[in-house]
Amino acid sequence: MSQPLFFCFAPCPRGLEGLLVQELETLPLAGLGQVLKVTPAPGGVSFQADWAGIMQANLWSRCASRILLRLDKKSYRNEQDIYDIALAQPWTDWFDLANDFKVDLTALTGRRAAPTEGTRTKQPPPAGKRTKPASVSHLQSLDFVTLRVKDAVCDHFRERTGQRPDINTQHPDIRIHVFLDDISCTLYLDTSGDALFKRGWRLEKGEAPIRENLAAGLLQLANWPERAAAGLTLLDPFCGSGTLLVEAMLQQLQVAPGLARSFAFECLRPCPLEQWQQVKQQARQQIQLQPLNQIHGSDIDQKMVYRARRNIERAAILYGLPENLPLPTVAMSSADEKAPPAPQGLIICNPPYGERMQVQANRDSVHPAPEETDALFSHWATQLKRHYAGWSVYVISADMQLPKRLRLKESQRLPLFNGPLECRYFRFDMVSGSARHKPSQDSANPGMTPA
Ligand SMILES: C[S@@+](CC[C@H](N)C(=O)[O-])C[C@H]1O[C@@H](n2cnc3c(N)ncnc32)[C@H](O)[C@@H]1O
Repeated sequence: MSQPLFFCFAPCPRGLEGLLVQELETLPLAGLGQVLKVTPAPGGVSFQADWAGIMQANLWSRCASRILLRLDKKSYRNEQDIYDIALAQPWTDWFDLANDFKVDLTALTGRRAAPTEGTRTKQPPPAGKRTKPASVSHLQSLDFVTLRVKDAVCDHFRERTGQRPDINTQHPDIRIHVFLDDISCTLYLDTSGDALFKRGWRLEKGEAPIRENLAAGLLQLANWPERAAAGLTLLDPFCGSGTLLVEAMLQQLQVAPGLARSFAFECLRPCPLEQWQQVKQQARQQIQLQPLNQIHGSDIDQKMVYRARRNIERAAILYGLPENLPLPTVAMSSADEKAPPAPQGLIICNPPYGERMQVQANRDSVHPAPEETDALFSHWATQLKRHYAGWSVYVISADMQLPKRLRLKESQRLPLFNGPLECRYFRFDMVSGSARHKPSQDSANPGMTPA
């Protein structure tokens, strides 16, 4: 029997929309469910799916931040209209009184009623009032709108059951997302719950960890899955908590990133849970238990080395990998002294961003202690030029001057966002002597070709 199709939207880090389209287009697997009309938008991808398709998107997407199911989209003039739109939704059909909930609101700066990352006023603020984008200046305050939507959900429940569900702003069972532009209000039910980059394995972080879905995207943009299949070695010499290392391992073994966590759709009343068991079972069968490529990380900070190792071990346990599988290795080393672990390979990393954290000097180094970013990058570049001929080096950085600092010419640069930080994803192809490629313009193409 065919199931209803829902309009869905999957937000993702800006710059990864093309990859997310490719991911969703490979679904559904094993003929379970439907995923149709996959279309990119700035900061996400819209598509249509049935329940099994929504389950698979949550379970398999490495790049999406959430999978949102659209309940309604209507024009509005004021807070009362938004309350009425929310009150009219059949909330009691979607979830139980026993489930607590939370309302998130995003007001878009333009006329787009789709949730995008990086262009929004985010809810909730730490304290006090939020600034309203000009597009919704006709509303009293965004906090008041959020309150009215919450009231509408509670009033709907009260009219039907005499009781109302609880609010939980920290770990709600159900999240309702409201997206406003100047004329339309869109209501979504979040089928993910915790954001999808929270895979469950990274409990230990450093100061500026990269999100798991961005790390997964960086690996895919560097064609890691194909290069892993060809036996190439991977190194992250600024590995921090080991995010890129774990995501690389999951991609190589074809482990569904969501296999170690739960999802909000499991609480939704119409969701057919027997299909969820089938979808998960199919994902477990998909795991390719083969010897891992050499995946190495290093960091100058002993504390981060320890955290990365713990995260890798936790991931192996949570995803049920066999105990005898050799896992990615992590060593303590300054990037500018790290010897190449193989004659050829791939470096993928996000070195310290000036804005977010300090570069650490290796005071035992044979080099003079680098006090500045420039010094580290200059020493690292020397190391790359001397010892990494034949390697491809991919670096995400908010520093647009990075190639100049490294005195290397990039062969590709791709605009990407790390949260709100506008970055470039640079690729340098190391050849004997120096990198002789011409600098390239920002690439509009989401894919980066292998060397
Ligand atoms: C932006 S963080 C990387 C975060 C990492 N991708 C993660 O997800 O956790 C940069 C890392 O570079 C490390 N670092 C700073 N200076 C370094 C150096 N000279 N050599 C190696 N690592 C260094 C810091 O300890 C930090 O863990």
